[in-house]
Amino acid sequence: MNDAAGGSRTLSPLVERIAGRGAAAWALHQEAMTAKRRGEDVVVMSVGDPDFDTPPAIVDAAVGALRSGDTHYTPIVGRPSLRTAIARRHAARTGLNVEPDRVVILAGAQNGLFACALCLTAPGDEVVVPVPMYVTYEATIGAAGARLVPVPCDAAQGFRPDLERLEAAVTPRTRALFFANPNNPTGVVMNRRELEAVADLARRYDLWLVSDEVYADLVFDGAHLSIAALPQMAERTVTVSSLSKSHAMPGWRTGWAIAPPVLVPHLANLALCMLYGLPGFAQAGAEEALTGSDADSSRMRDHYRRRRDAVLDALAEVKGIRCFKPQAGMFLLLDVRGTGLTSAEFARRLYRASGVSVLDAAPFGAADGLVRLSFSAEEAQLEEGCRRIAAFVAGLNKP
Ligand SMILES: Cc1ncc(COP(=O)(O)O)c(C=O)c1O
Repeated sequence: MNDAAGGSRTLSPLVERIAGRGAAAWALHQEAMTAKRRGEDVVVMSVGDPDFDTPPAIVDAAVGALRSGDTHYTPIVGRPSLRTAIARRHAARTGLNVEPDRVVILAGAQNGLFACALCLTAPGDEVVVPVPMYVTYEATIGAAGARLVPVPCDAAQGFRPDLERLEAAVTPRTRALFFANPNNPTGVVMNRRELEAVADLARRYDLWLVSDEVYADLVFDGAHLSIAALPQMAERTVTVSSLSKSHAMPGWRTGWAIAPPVLVPHLANLALCMLYGLPGFAQAGAEEALTGSDADSSRMRDHYRRRRDAVLDALAEVKGIRCFKPQAGMFLLLDVRGTGLTSAEFARRLYRASGVSVLDAAPFGAADGLVRLSFSAEEAQLEEGCRRIAAFVAGLNKP
């Protein structure tokens, strides 16, 4: 590879593995955000960034910490009080006895997923992932040198995990299964039977499980069950989560991994050379989020539920497109095959024609013909976005 100055210094092959569809997926979104910042009339439905501000008590805790000089290095794996708060929360949800020293504080769930990929897999290993999946998984697993083996979940089955296909994808090289429960972009919440089948698979083939639970607090229909709660699963499961979605804190980068004891020292070593501790004031805010009232968090969940229902209603009668109802989260998939456009064309042309940004779901591992729409924007924006989508689709149907 030659650089602009004609040098021939090579880059790591890693750079190829972290490029590609996942990185490219955001191009249209970035374009929309740039236009929005310029004051143009765009409706951003392409990202899951809560439009709520972080609740004031959390901000106050962080500001107070800053003012009192909490600007120094912090313990690499996180402050004991925050690790304790996370362990208690996980214990309350799973019924497990969770020691705080199983918790490693990291810079968001994304950082947690990355740390898991590096510490659990090696070049040549395979990681089975039900798809559609969150768009960063491919590069995250690829960064470790492992290979992501996608296992399709069909739209016709409501994107529920296909357990036979999952098992058929396991080979002697399979090291782990990564999955988001609830899922982004499908909004599927795995039920007990599905989780038990995955647990059984993990036991029989001796696999690690990485359970990404960033939307666990945003379940609208049914209850969330953490796979770590199932018998013998805590010893092979890393539960990754964060406050980004539940407490409208994506910019704080407050996340964690709850890992079996055998893995914790290695995650700690990685945290040491990768992150060197999360800012103390961010940890102070996170602790307030986890120990204070959960009224704000439930209020936001109610908003998301109403927004989901409003989008489903607004698009229900639009000929040529079909929404899949999510059980959780802040996204839904839209089947656009009836318009005759590919999903990439639909997203591009919709944006050009009406300034509404949605994402082609293909980089999420979805079959062609699906786009992902976020309902994290406020109600009036969503209403306007849906109105424009309906008008765009109607325009396509005209001769
Ligand atoms: C399924 C899933 N996992 C992980 C993340 C990353 O979250 P965080 O902000 O905690 O890094 C996201 C963000 O959208 C997500 O949707």
